[in-house]
Amino acid sequence: MRMYDIIKKKRDGGELSTAEIEFFIKGYVDGSIPDYQASALCMAIFYKGMTERETADLTLFMANSGDTVDLSVFGNTTVDKHSTGGVGDKTTLIVAPVVASLGCTMAKMSGRGLGHTGGTIDKLESIEGFNTELTSEAFFKTVKKTGLAVVGQTGNLTPADKKLYALRDVTATVDSLPLIASSIMSKKLAAGSHTIVLDVKYGSGAFMKTPEDAQDLATEMVKIGNNCGRNTSAVITNMDIPLGNNIGNALEVKEAIEVLTGKGPEDLKTVCISLASQIVSLSKGVSTEEAKTLTRNVLESGKAFLKFKEWIGAQGGNTDWIENPELFPKADYQYEIKATENGFISHMDAEKIGICAVILGAGRETKADSIDMSAGIVLNKKTGDEIKVGDTLATLYTCKKETFINAEKNFLDAISVSESKTHLLPLIYKII
Ligand code: URA
Repeated sequence: MRMYDIIKKKRDGGELSTAEIEFFIKGYVDGSIPDYQASALCMAIFYKGMTERETADLTLFMANSGDTVDLSVFGNTTVDKHSTGGVGDKTTLIVAPVVASLGCTMAKMSGRGLGHTGGTIDKLESIEGFNTELTSEAFFKTVKKTGLAVVGQTGNLTPADKKLYALRDVTATVDSLPLIASSIMSKKLAAGSHTIVLDVKYGSGAFMKTPEDAQDLATEMVKIGNNCGRNTSAVITNMDIPLGNNIGNALEVKEAIEVLTGKGPEDLKTVCISLASQIVSLSKGVSTEEAKTLTRNVLESGKAFLKFKEWIGAQGGNTDWIENPELFPKADYQYEIKATENGFISHMDAEKIGICAVILGAGRETKADSIDMSAGIVLNKKTGDEIKVGDTLATLYTCKKETFINAEKNFLDAISVSESKTHLLPLIYKII
């Protein structure tokens, strides 16, 4: 078999065989296929697409390209969630303790912030003492005891995806449906959970800009998961606007605590209840309506908050901060952005607002950058809200005062104002 022939076949619109896909993944991981041939194939896939069978094969060979996690000691109770990435997306911090308090087992690996999007691991590390690098033994022990643990990706999981993702990032081949679907699902399959619920985002802050594109991606990933014997479902949610009001690591943990203690913004609560009830319904075999009631009950009774505290403590986090969020370190400087016209906010570009948070120090401009855990944005107004001259649109937080000018410019660039109230896109577009 020759890589040249595989590239040519895909370039001309052919369907690759299982053996050809295996040859490519094995050869790329062991180094016998060079980057230039792998990038040529990615570009051919970008233009010609892949059949369902090809995408499933690609996913499986990537999932098995390195270590896999065996969660079989927990039986069929293991659940995982995955978000395709967004701004202000702190849903894992809420959904994980909610489903764990309802008897699901969440042994989860999460990522750090990427570009304009935040990452769960960075958010958790804003809590004093929280350890995201447990040994395998400590990880399993914590899951057994609390039903829940979240760590950063460790070991040699899906090396094919690690290499391919880095290559796609620099060859303009990230936004290809079969390549995104296989990249995400290979990691989910390797991470070992029985039930997988995908939060597929659409809108200005997401990879998929329209709900229709998000639906195509979700459908493909759900098929792959189910065909591989995992209970898989997807919730397509709005990332046209940041989720909730707080963006930035410690600010987002504080907002998650608000929701877990019966407060917090409605949009965030709605998305969390939808994701959690989907997980509970699939894992426990109860109707979505019943799962929704169970989910609401553990949020309202405080049971989910107690589970959250237990989990944070079990991974070394200071639970005094959870009891009293005022203890989180505050940014040295804060600055209010004021409205300069009357009207209604007709659009907020979530990606630009995410970049604004990065400028303030809440994310990394380069891999080596450290994060200012206290930095970020609190939105006082969101899409659909009426504004008057002088109203505070948002409050910016940072320890680097010099970032305010650039951050404010980016924030104002992200906002559109109209004379009348505009139609809001749905928060939950569809469940697949
Ligand atoms: N997230 C991933 O893990 N992979 C992609 O290709 C895109 C988003």
